Amino acid sequence: MAEKLLVTGASGQLGRLVLDELLASGSVKGSDIIAVTRYPSNLAEYADKGVEVRPGSFDEALVLEAAFTDANRVLIISTDSIGEPGKRLEQHKNAVEAAKNAGASHILYTSMPNPGPESKVLFAPDHRGTEQAIKDSGLSYTILRNGWYMENLMGSLPQTLASGKWYTSAGDGKNSYTARADIAKAIAHALASDSTDSKIYTLTGPQALTTDEIAAVVTEATGTHIEVVHVSDDQLSEGLKAAGLPEPVVPLLVSFDANTRDGNFDVVTNDIETLTGNAPRSLQNFLAENKAALGG
Ligand SMILES: NC(=O)c1ccc[n+]([C@@H]2O[C@H](COP(=O)([O-])OP(=O)(O)OC[C@H]3O[C@@H](n4cnc5c(N)ncnc54)[C@H](OP(=O)(O)O)[C@@H]3O)[C@@H](O)[C@H]2O)c1
Repeated sequence: MAEKLLVTGASGQLGRLVLDELLASGSVKGSDIIAVTRYPSNLAEYADKGVEVRPGSFDEALVLEAAFTDANRVLIISTDSIGEPGKRLEQHKNAVEAAKNAGASHILYTSMPNPGPESKVLFAPDHRGTEQAIKDSGLSYTILRNGWYMENLMGSLPQTLASGKWYTSAGDGKNSYTARADIAKAIAHALASDSTDSKIYTLTGPQALTTDEIAAVVTEATGTHIEVVHVSDDQLSEGLKAAGLPEPVVPLLVSFDANTRDGNFDVVTNDIETLTGNAPRSLQNFLAENKAALGG
């Protein structure tokens, strides 16, 4: 009998892409997939393809255990609950425990690059703690440390292009931005594999670039010059507040720049190609694909 592959957070952007990759692979049937989400009605199109869609939230441990019944390999997609201290780690621990109690044999988890104590990213302890909980569970695992999405850049670039200025405290630190679709493909391959080796992959784009280098790539793609303005963490924080960003988001964004400056995002691996057989797309290619969204 084929192994049952379970995807949590299945109605999120990454979750859907993983489902799409599994279904497109040809080696996984819809009936081999269990999709767990808080919003089952959002996944009707996948139910039509034979995927078993089950309700489940990491906030409800008992429901979750039932939702994980019969799953062999469980992909735990990290949640977006980053506002309340401690909540996200608690959610992820519930998911690890539910997978174990339900009899799963292998856990996969979406973490972040270099989540160790050296990380400046405010939510790095959530990922560090979850990785530890998975190791402590005694199940075999695949930890997928996802690079920073290129899509994150799309959130701020239209404004950056409009003002012509990019304020950063990242200095000459580099980040290996990665397309979400490439990450999803690598995760789908890892989920559908029959490997029970415990491994950690860091899924990155093909290059790590400084903010000045990224700005130059954006200028080349759009024809709009961007001046990179190097500021301190405090100045960045004040500027983001003045620009009207919500209070809790400001320290988070500053922590990303500080982490970049410290070199903790300066990691490039071949792990996406190792898992999928295809090299991940470059930032140049990603921007060409998404030029319309930049307003260029
Ligand atoms: N590497 C990066 O640059 C980056 C950027 C943004 C986010 N992330 C992380 O990667 C994850 C997936 O990214 P995405 O782009 O797909 O984000 P997204 O579209 O915002 O999706 C949020 C995800 O969180 C899940 N979730 C929220 N509360 C939950 C709960 N109580 N129980 C179970 N699942 C819950 C959602 O599942 P359902 O709605 O289906 O229940 C959904 O999969 C995010 O949740 C976040 O942890 C990484």
